Amino acid sequence: MTAILTEGLTKKFGNLCAVDSLDLSIEKEIFGLLGPNGSGKTTTVLMLTTLLAQTKGSASICGHDTLLAPEKVRDCISYVPQDMAVDTNLTGRENMLVFARLYGISDPKDKVDELLAVMELSDRADDLAKTYSGGMRRRLELAEALVHEPEVVFLDEPTIGLDVAARRSIWNHIRKMTKKGMTIFMTTHYMDEADQYCDRVGIISHGKVAAMGTPQELKSRLMKDVVTVTLEGEYHPVMLEGAVFVGESEGTVSFTAGNGREALPLLADALKQAGNCVKAMSLREPSLDDVFLQSVGKQEEPKGFEEWKFRMMLHRRN
Ligand SMILES: Nc1ncnc2c1ncn2[C@@H]1O[C@H](COP(=O)(O)OP(=O)(O)OP(=O)(O)O)[C@@H](O)[C@H]1O
Ligand SMILES: [Mg+2]
Repeated sequence: MTAILTEGLTKKFGNLCAVDSLDLSIEKEIFGLLGPNGSGKTTTVLMLTTLLAQTKGSASICGHDTLLAPEKVRDCISYVPQDMAVDTNLTGRENMLVFARLYGISDPKDKVDELLAVMELSDRADDLAKTYSGGMRRRLELAEALVHEPEVVFLDEPTIGLDVAARRSIWNHIRKMTKKGMTIFMTTHYMDEADQYCDRVGIISHGKVAAMGTPQELKSRLMKDVVTVTLEGEYHPVMLEGAVFVGESEGTVSFTAGNGREALPLLADALKQAGNCVKAMSLREPSLDDVFLQSVGKQEEPKGFEEWKFRMMLHRRN
């Protein structure tokens, strides 16, 4: 039975098509849904977790239709929402016990102890969750999500706002979850994480899939080298045979080229002639950032895109 299957899944809010004819087939893997702010990631997760009814199309989880058999779907999934969702006035252990009771687990003590240990929270289990750091709260939410041994786990931006060490720790735990045969469906804005940890990624823009595949496949679809140009002032577009514009982000413009070494001096000349002031140029291999920018960058910027670019800039500096 396919873990997550959607056909033409569509959600409209009035005239706005937030998710547009999404076809997905996901099986025992870490699948990352990437996209700028407002591109439809959370709306997709809400439909797949039975919390929002679609306008058109269908979705099934482990063979159960989300509209026709929502209780069966809920039995085999768990969902960690984008915003933190622990009760900060309860201890970590109490939070876990509430979840265990909600799922009807009769004698949850051993399971709760085991999961607190897995998420490295045993020594703080009896402290109020309000005294936890952001990373600890996220680990507690992951522990809660595992209490009824779900087959499919939905994580909406599991590592947002966490420092590099906390992000790495969360990822180690997510990887452990997949080793037990779970399917992970997650959204993220962190391209490096998606590249490193996701088996496959889907990039959506304005609710539509712009690219889908393994990170390696997507990167290899770009030409061989990437030339990154740092500019003083605004970018004046150039056209050059053998170099393809990828995108522009915070004073940096990128191009892909079959042969970066040959393209570099030609590109420098073309940029100068077009009136650009070039501060620096460098050559590197394509990253998922480039795939993302090429997939969504040329389209009209949705609401919130500035914030996304700002986040990307922060992430790049990390
Ligand atoms: N309940 C709602 N009513 C009206 N419009 C909505 C509603 N929920 C979401 N939208 C709109 O649908 C679009 C997709 O929103 P969604 O929250 O799915 O984006 P997202 O990709 O998760 O963004 P982010 O990266 O900021 O979390 C946005 O334009 C949003 O304003
Ligand atoms: Mg969202």
